[in-house]
Order: sequence, then C-alpha cells, then structure tokens
Amino acid sequence: MIRFLFNEQEFTLDECSPELTILEYLRTVLVRRGTKEGCASGDCGACTVVVAEPDGERLRYSTLNSCITFVGTLHGKLLLTVEHLQSSGQLHPVQQAMVDLHGSQCGFCTPGFIMSMFALYKSIDSPSRSDIERALAGNLCRCTGYRPIIDAALSLAGRGGQDGFSSHEALIGARLRKIREDHPSGSLQLGDHRFFVPASSDELAAQLQAYPGAQMVAGGTDLALSVTQQLEQPKVLIYTGAVAELNAISETEGSLLVGGAVSYTRLEPFLQKHYPEFGHLLDRLGSLQIRNQGTLAGNVANASPIGDTPPVLLALGAKLHLRSGNRCQVIGIDDFFTGYRQTALPENGFIEQIEIPLQPEQLLKVFKVSKRLDDDISAVCAAFSLRLEQGIVTEARLGFGGMAATPARALNAEKALIGQPFTERGIEAAQQALGQDFSPIDDVRATAEYRLLVARNLLLRAVLEQDQRYASQPLEVVQYA
Ligand SMILES: Cc1cc2nc3c(=O)[nH]c(=O)nc-3n(C[C@H](O)[C@H](O)[C@H](O)COP(=O)(O)OP(=O)(O)OC[C@H]3O[C@@H](n4cnc5c(N)ncnc54)[C@H](O)[C@@H]3O)c2cc1C
Ligand code: FES
Ligand code: FES
Repeated sequence: MIRFLFNEQEFTLDECSPELTILEYLRTVLVRRGTKEGCASGDCGACTVVVAEPDGERLRYSTLNSCITFVGTLHGKLLLTVEHLQSSGQLHPVQQAMVDLHGSQCGFCTPGFIMSMFALYKSIDSPSRSDIERALAGNLCRCTGYRPIIDAALSLAGRGGQDGFSSHEALIGARLRKIREDHPSGSLQLGDHRFFVPASSDELAAQLQAYPGAQMVAGGTDLALSVTQQLEQPKVLIYTGAVAELNAISETEGSLLVGGAVSYTRLEPFLQKHYPEFGHLLDRLGSLQIRNQGTLAGNVANASPIGDTPPVLLALGAKLHLRSGNRCQVIGIDDFFTGYRQTALPENGFIEQIEIPLQPEQLLKVFKVSKRLDDDISAVCAAFSLRLEQGIVTEARLGFGGMAATPARALNAEKALIGQPFTERGIEAAQQALGQDFSPIDDVRATAEYRLLVARNLLLRAVLEQDQRYASQPLEVVQYA
C-alpha cells in the first residue's frame, strides 16, 4: 500500500497500475484538471506539481513534472496542486501577484508557472532574478510573455513565505513523519505488475534478487520516458527514493560519498563547495523540476554517451560502490561503461554510492556545449582534471561526452599533456591527439567535425581561463554553440 497526503487528506492506494503517472492519476482518477499536459516528456512544465517532505522542523517544497513521475513515488509525501493554493476564498499571494502584474496569460502554462513560483515562494524569501530564472526555466511559455511573470515573482520578496499553509506546517510534518515511521516501505499491485518502495538497502537488494529483470526507478527522469513515450510496461518497478542509505551524503577526509538516490538539488551545495565548476554544470542539467528528481546514479547507470556528469566523474576518478544481493564491490568509473548503453553493473545489482575524490590541489575545468543555455542536452561535454606544478602538467585526466559510444577518457591526449607547459603551444600535441582518441559521429546535435573542433577548442579555452593575462578580463561566458 502507498500512503500520502493530498493537501490535508490522507490517501491510500493499493490496487493501482504501477506505471500510472501522477498527472494521469490527477486528471483521470481524481478528476483534478488544473494540472495540464503539454509535452508529456518533462520538457514544458505545464504539469508541474509540488511535493513537500519533512526537513527538520520545516517542510521542504519541491517542484516536479507530474507527467514523468509515477504515483507510487508519493509514499510518505504531501502532494499539492494548483487547486490547493486558494485559502478561505482568497487567492494565494503568488496567484494574486500574477493577476496584479498581468502574468496570467494562457490556461495551459499558467498552472505550472504558479506551482513553480509557489515552491520558490516557500523556499527562498527574497529571490534574486537569477533564482527566479532558475526556478522558472523549466516552464515554457509559447507566447514568450516571461517579463510579467518574472515581475510577479520579484514582487513577492520579503514575505517570509507566509500563506495559508504556514500555520499547518508543523502538523503536516508530524503526519508525514508518522506515515514514514509506521509504514517505512510501500507497494502497489495491479494483476502481475508491481511497484515497490523499499526503505533500506537490504530490502532493495532482496527485492532485486526476488524479481530478476525488475527496473529500478530513482528520479525516473530517464526511465519514465520509456513508459510514457515508448509505451513499455515493465512488470516490476522498484523505487529507490525511500531507501535511507541511498539518500545519505557524507564527506570524509578525502572524498564525497553520494548515495544512489540523492537528487541533484540536494547534491548541488556539496559540489559548489568542493568543485564549483561541477556545481555550475548541474545548473545547466535539465530544469529545476528535473534536478529535484534526477540523480547522479541514474545519470551514470543510464550510461548515455551524452549524459552530463559521467565526463566529470571520469576526470575526477570517481569510484562506484555496487551491490548485488549481499555482495558489495567497488569499481573505478573507468571500468563501468563497457559499450553503447552497456555497463558493468552486476546482475540484479545497484549503485549504492558514488565516491568522488576530493583533491583541492587539482585544477578542474568543466564545459557543456549545447544549442540552448538552459534545459538542453549537450553536443559535447568535457571535464579536465589537471595537476600543474610550476605551470607544467604533471597529472591529467580528460573526460568527454558526445565524442564516442560511451562517456570516455582521452588517453592519448592525456599522455601528450604530461610534462608540457599548460599554454597555447604546450597543448598543441594534446589537441592533435584528440583525433586519435575519438571518431565522433554526426547527429541532430552536431556534426562529427564540429565535435572534434569543439573538443580541441575547449582545451584551449581551459588554458586561456588559467592565463593570468586574461585574469582582469574574464572570458565572455559563451558555453553554447
Ligand atoms: C526534460 C529532461 C531534460 C534532461 N536534461 C538532461 C541534461 O541536461 N543532462 C543530462 O545528463 N541528462 C538530462 N536528462 C536525463 C536525466 O534527467 C538524467 O540522466 C538523470 O540523471 C537520470 O536520473 P534519474 O534518477 O531520474 O534516473 P532514472 O530515470 O530513475 O533511472 C535511469 C536508469 O538508471 C537506473 N538506476 C537508477 N538508480 C540506480 C541505482 N542506484 N543503481 C543502478 N541503476 C540505477 C534505472 O534503473 C534506469 O535504468 C534530462 C531528462 C529530461 C526528461
Ligand atoms: S507535460 Fe510537459 S513537462 Fe510534463
Ligand atoms: S502563458 Fe501559455 S503560451 Fe504563454
């Protein structure tokens, strides 16, 4: 059984299709049609809803795309939709601001904008313009009327997130905690299709052994598309989001240990602290709705050659802590990607943790080249981790995405860099060697020729960014094609 709060009411679900998305559930089962369907693939934000979870004494409000989120993931959470925002017949402050500043334009996009603005209102008291842009980048308005929407969001500064929900938050938090204490795990079933919500790593490991071929769902931002777009009907889905061990992030002396279900949003502050360039990359990975759900482990296990984080993890020499049944092993990420969308994940196994070495003495440079700045998949992604001693490269790990069938290191270019000064002349051999490392392909995102040229130029860009002559004139940030 799955238990969650829908506004103030507790809902339980037992017999229900495991592939049912929250959007379908809202519109067809509950007949709440304020939440809209635009693209049905996580791109437009029309279906944005908010979930809240206890976070210390408070609730943490986050947006998600309900079109690509399975209803079973709601176990132990509060679901809020646009219908819940009015209180005592009064519009919510966010709704009122949209009316006052003429931000309400069409009925398709507005509910999604409202929900994104509501989550922002409850999370940041006086958001900057860039906070607002980050919160709204996953909500597309086809009539391009963003200015009044941004004005409405700016007008809400300084109200401390006060609204009709504020007085109930402690009570709602206590009710959610009670659901989780009394029912840490959950499940759904319809016929022989099942959805499991395990609460511990042992339970997850046992379920994967008991149901060989089961599909794991973390954020579902890749996997749900196979159901909603390719109409696959996996028999068994196992959600990792409630597994306590997989939700942990810890910092040890020399590494950052990231649990297999930690979302990008939770990870970002840790990366900003240790590797700001990696943190900044996350800002450009999908939209906030996607980052609230998506995980590093999902990105790695999905093994897409154009996933954003594998090149950085390759450059940093990350390690993967894998488990299958009771067998645990640690492998270097270099050994994980074995072919196009193929990995060394053991049968019925999962990624328990990703270990990112912390090497403050290394220079890390990360670049994502895509057609749009926000919410776009990269044509080429590159990450360079270098050790420089008196200007000479003594260690180099270069990770690339979009250049081969898997995310891959440029081993020849790395060799060519060692012992050379990190200068325009010093990298020439490495730039040439990239042609031996990779034979990229032409596709909709870029031609092979463009990809190789960009890869070479990114190495040059890394040199120029380090060059003291340009320190007082920072390079213009043009990270897209
Ligand atoms: C609109 C949109 C925009 C996107 N933009 C980007 C982008 O800019 N850059 C980018 O790189 N990606 C992007 N993606 C893809 C996706 O968001 C990422 O790949 C994300 O990291 C996937 O994580 P997830 O937790 O959602 O994975 P899921 O979809 O839950 O899972 C993906 C795969 O990993 C497996 N898996 C999940 N967790 C584990 C685990 N612990 N152990 C083993 N296997 C596991 C699943 O079984 C599945 O096969 C985008 C997706 C959408 C829908
Ligand atoms: S309908 Fe477009 S993101 Fe969900
Ligand atoms: S608000 Fe819907 S297209 Fe602009």
